[in-house]
Amino acid sequence: MVQEYGMVIGQADPSFFDFNIVDRSYRPIAYEYVEVEVEEPQADGAMRKLQVLGQVKQITSSHPFYDQRTTPGAAWKQRELGVGEEMIQIIATVKILGYLHEEGGRNEVRRPRSPPMPGTPVYRASDELLQRLFSLDERELPLDVGHLLHRESISVPISGKELHRHTAILAMTRYGKSYFAGRIMEQLLRQGASLLVIDAHGDYANMVQDPEGHLHAEFWDKVTVFRPAAAEGFEGNHVKSLQLSISACSQNELCALAGIDGSLQKIRLRNAMKKVRAKNKFFTLDDLIAELEESLEEAEEGEEDQAEGKGKKKVSTQEKTRIAGVIDRLKDLNDREIFTEGDINVAEFFKPMALSDIFLSGLQDSVQDVLVGMILRRVFYAKYRREPWARLPIFVFVEEAHRFAAPPDEGGGKFSRDILARIAAEGAKFGVFLTVISQRPRRIDPDILSNCSNLAILRVVNSQDQRTIQAASESFSEDLLGDLPALEQGEAVLVGPFVPVPVMIRTAERETKHGGRTPDIYRLLKDARDQAEIQRERDKEKLH
Ligand SMILES: Nc1ncnc2c1ncn2[C@@H]1O[C@H](COP(=O)(O)OP(=O)(O)OP(=O)(O)O)[C@@H](O)[C@H]1O
Ligand SMILES: [Mg+2]
Repeated sequence: MVQEYGMVIGQADPSFFDFNIVDRSYRPIAYEYVEVEVEEPQADGAMRKLQVLGQVKQITSSHPFYDQRTTPGAAWKQRELGVGEEMIQIIATVKILGYLHEEGGRNEVRRPRSPPMPGTPVYRASDELLQRLFSLDERELPLDVGHLLHRESISVPISGKELHRHTAILAMTRYGKSYFAGRIMEQLLRQGASLLVIDAHGDYANMVQDPEGHLHAEFWDKVTVFRPAAAEGFEGNHVKSLQLSISACSQNELCALAGIDGSLQKIRLRNAMKKVRAKNKFFTLDDLIAELEESLEEAEEGEEDQAEGKGKKKVSTQEKTRIAGVIDRLKDLNDREIFTEGDINVAEFFKPMALSDIFLSGLQDSVQDVLVGMILRRVFYAKYRREPWARLPIFVFVEEAHRFAAPPDEGGGKFSRDILARIAAEGAKFGVFLTVISQRPRRIDPDILSNCSNLAILRVVNSQDQRTIQAASESFSEDLLGDLPALEQGEAVLVGPFVPVPVMIRTAERETKHGGRTPDIYRLLKDARDQAEIQRERDKEKLH
């Protein structure tokens, strides 16, 4: 027979109850899982007994003689007289999580609508009940991402199927967002998914390797890094250059990239774009520059003709300066090596069991914004138009999402924000499933964040960030908010349809190499000292 912790006391309701501890030597600690029986009246008048699971959220101890109102002298005397320990009261407050309901061979967790009755015994929850609560059917695509934080033997999978409701992974910096996102990616790959990762720091570019740096037996051929020529150096057999043709760029994007902001200059550029596009659908930046140079020459000839009295329209010097300015800007842009002659083959991103990593490390924010906007727009429209080569659903992960998904007036990328908002609103219908990852939840456009029904929150201390998270999801209750500052690196609260009930987990260890390692400051400073020492020796030699 399992020993009971104690029994329900005070006022209980279907969400919370208190119980007292009978034996001080056998008591739960905070976050322990408990079981209690609840009787629920049925429509036919019968009573149904439910085995309800709860979690201890608070635990307090008190003694009637050691009260705040007792003076220190009186308390001291009472202690000398020997106060009966049997009067110590330990009371635990429990949040009710729900009970398991089986219907048509499927398990689901439901919330009771009746409170437990006072005096009902409360037990430590059995591992068996907890595991049944968190296990998912194969058809839910269980992704093994961690285990219960306060009961390590219980694994807590998330439902891959429910990722279509979009997901946000939020936490302070260095608490394990990217590490966790990488674990989800590994599990999705195993399930055969196509993944597109907007990788701002190259955190996922090493996923062909295991944590020791050897080629991973399973993932070595499933990850492709697409690197724009202008990005930071990164090499490997799995690295391809990101081909991106300027012809897919809108006029506004091109102006933003090239830094063309005069309205008349924009008109010149638009006319030139129209002309080159009419000649060749896949034009290059060189074509565009050649076209503008031609019109500059025409302008100059026009002036000469006029001088010779042939009566051609006068072209002002201002106009010439304008065109020359546009040409200069485009030449600068050409030197930055963002665009290529060839173009991306978007179909590649839809390969089954494949992760495409868009490697953006080292690129300017404004360039990242335009690139991400261009890529995501093409991916979304491929699904929207139901292209035959884009049949599979695609899971899009966006790192540093506050850079791409902030409202434009807060300095966020305009081009990527627009398409991200569209994906957040409509992507689920077409098979584009979004996961945003960020350390600044308050800087993400609320329209985008509130469309992410699944939340994985690691440590968050900033109260404004906490409020943003709560506002984004009605299922994020006050008590969960209180848990966030206490989380350690790699610990997360999961809330939303991808888990049966809100739950705290320790995220599982990665199978592949994680790029975003904490810099080893000790080693770096040691190297710095060694270098300084060598330099000093050299300087000394020069002096003698
Ligand atoms: N579950 C875990 N198990 C083991 N180590 C972990 C775990 N979670 C995180 N770490 C370690 O913590 C470090 C920081 O994690 P990560 O790079 O995911 O942080 P982050 O929240 O993405 O930070 P940033 O905001 O800087 O991108 C990693 O280098 C990793 O080694
Ligand atoms: Mg990170």
